Amino acid sequence: MKNILITGGAGFIGSHVVRLFVTKYPDYHIVNLDKLTYAGNLANLKDIENAPNYTFVKADICDFEKVQSVFAEYQIDGVIHLAAESHVDRSIKDPFTFARTNVMGTLTLLQAAKQYWNGNWEGKRFYHISTDEVYGALELTHPDGIEPPFSTTASSSEHHLAYGKDFFYEDTKYNPHSPYSASKASSDHFVRAFHDTYGMPTIVTNCSNNYGPYQFPEKLIPLFINNIRHGKPLPVYGKGENVRDWLYVVDHARAIDLIFHKGKVADTYNIGGFNEWKNIDLIKVIIKTVDRLLGNPEGTSDHLITYVTDRAGHDLRYAIDSTKLKNELGWEPSLQFEEGIEKTVRWYLDNQEWMDNITSGEYEKYYESMYSGR
Ligand code: NAD
Ligand code: DAU
Repeated sequence: MKNILITGGAGFIGSHVVRLFVTKYPDYHIVNLDKLTYAGNLANLKDIENAPNYTFVKADICDFEKVQSVFAEYQIDGVIHLAAESHVDRSIKDPFTFARTNVMGTLTLLQAAKQYWNGNWEGKRFYHISTDEVYGALELTHPDGIEPPFSTTASSSEHHLAYGKDFFYEDTKYNPHSPYSASKASSDHFVRAFHDTYGMPTIVTNCSNNYGPYQFPEKLIPLFINNIRHGKPLPVYGKGENVRDWLYVVDHARAIDLIFHKGKVADTYNIGGFNEWKNIDLIKVIIKTVDRLLGNPEGTSDHLITYVTDRAGHDLRYAIDSTKLKNELGWEPSLQFEEGIEKTVRWYLDNQEWMDNITSGEYEKYYESMYSGR
């Protein structure tokens, strides 16, 4: 596979995957197809935009003819599909857009790939990036955390707690709750159906919450870093008791590279950090780190914590077991969480222009409308 179509490459995770592939594989041609929705930002790829093995195509994955023409023009033999509507809160307000892009868009890409590859599956691959949210929610049976039953990884030596006895495994039954996760679950099923029905070489991975540079500031970590910087309230949904498993985005990109090249066709791999945090504990770490890096005395921004109305259908706990990926392909998170969060906060504070370009204008209005009712 040398001509690779990466969809959603101007978004958060996609930009890290594009950067990794463009720099690591100079003999590949990387085609980044992205509609540049509010979440797509070519500034995320400034450092590689002129690379000779990189092409950007502005297009909608739902546009069948355009997608067909991209397959033909660039003789695509591998697809890494990340383009999606990705924010749960937006899906609650506008589920149609999620069904359109995540379900119909994925189906459109699958149809175009099937037609272009025309049954010649040798050396082809369709890799779909999905989420742990398709599995539903886990119980929070150990509110204070317990020592987990699995061996520790590099990412979690300090804060390695599990808030329940169950985890999401590759064979955990799908049970999505939000319109976002329902749309991702549906797209996962379509991808698997194209393998089972037509023999297309597909792979699906389900990953936990990513954090790191270039994440759109509607998501918890960049939103809170930016709000602390501006002395704005930090809207904590419900009691802040929900648990998420956090993974540094570059480690996700590394996993995608490994699985794209070495993963077993028709298989599924879970990707996660073994790094569970209750939102409120994570928020306290963010506040402490931002205050320290801004030179503020400890505790300066604690008063910004504001408990607001909970997210509708808010999943209580996500926790991925990525042992299969470790055992079969040798992947583990490379970064300690403490190092990852420090790097992340530093990046947002050092790249205020990037943040200010996004948070001015239209986004400001959206943000006000999202939070005014809470
Ligand atoms: P993002 O919202 O930052 O980026 C999405 C990108 O897709 C944007 O560049 C956007 O312009 C593009 N896009 C949206 N609709 C499109 C369309 N119709 N046609 C073409 N391009 C379109 O999302 P992200 O956080 O980088 O997530 C990327 C993928 O990874 C998604 O499929 C998401 O479900 C999945 N995922 C995300 C996380 C996470 O924590 N962020 C975790 C697991 C899985
Ligand atoms: O688990 C993987 C998923 O992680 C991805 O599939 C999604 O694309 C990605 O957006 C993310 O979903 P979450 O809903 O978990 O991420 P978010 O950053 O929106 O919220 C993280 C937690 O913080 C969640 O429990 C809700 C809470 N939260 C979020 C925001 C934006 C707040 O308390 N306040 C907020 O303002």
